[in-house]
Amino acid sequence: MEKKVKANRFEGKVAIVTASTQGIGFGIAERLGLEGASVVISSRKQKNVDEAVEKLKAQGIDVIGVVCHVSNGQQRKNLIDMTVQKYGHIDVIVCNAATNPTLSTILEMQESVLDKLWEVNVKTSILLLQVAAPHLRNGSSVVFISSIAGYQPEVPLAMYGVTKTALFGLTKALASEMSPITRVNCVAPGFVPTHFADFLTRSKEARKALEDRALLKRLGTTEDMASAAAFLASDDAAFITGETLVVAGGTPSRL
Ligand SMILES: *[C@@H]1O[C@H](CO)[C@@H](O)[C@H](O)[C@H]1NC(C)=O
Repeated sequence: MEKKVKANRFEGKVAIVTASTQGIGFGIAERLGLEGASVVISSRKQKNVDEAVEKLKAQGIDVIGVVCHVSNGQQRKNLIDMTVQKYGHIDVIVCNAATNPTLSTILEMQESVLDKLWEVNVKTSILLLQVAAPHLRNGSSVVFISSIAGYQPEVPLAMYGVTKTALFGLTKALASEMSPITRVNCVAPGFVPTHFADFLTRSKEARKALEDRALLKRLGTTEDMASAAAFLASDDAAFITGETLVVAGGTPSRL
């Protein structure tokens, strides 16, 4: 399908997107690439990485793929090393990797599951940025992908939501720490029917209920999230840092 993207905001820029072989991450990588970025995509499985690289190349995007399970320190370092070897520097990092290993309530959650949620959804982004920071150019930008559940953590996504709340704080903290060289912002997507959120939208009734919660009466798309992330990462947002943009069709979140 021909994607109609008119802007060229990332010409000459290098962007890393984690967990970017499908869903929202892929949508963001595609959007940045179509706007001229050299894109480094990654996820856990070589096969998925190869397939996504082919799809992006077919659209004329300059892209490399690196296997990276964000919990693996060696693979995080390799992701940054490969990027710097190929392109010399980094302009954009989109921290999109996340997990939701269980639907259990917070009080019933096993310690190992709690650890995994904090690790993948919060800690690994910090560790990745520690490795990447020396290579971030002046004017660079970090975008965290949080969730509307970060404002309204509730069953069955309660603890997942709390880890996403932490990203709002992390956005503020790092915006301060990384200024003025790097801006740090966050996107809080509403419900997007990707593979990741499949369990929420599988039944017609559940899907309808989520659609009805949005003032705009539909679920989000990966393109909705990609355009918000691209905006924040671009110079169009040059005076915006430490902010979270809710992209949820008016689903109740914050004032
Ligand atoms: C970074 O870029 C801004 C805007 O172009 C410029 O004013 C500033 O001096 C630069 N800072 C460094 C450390 O190069």
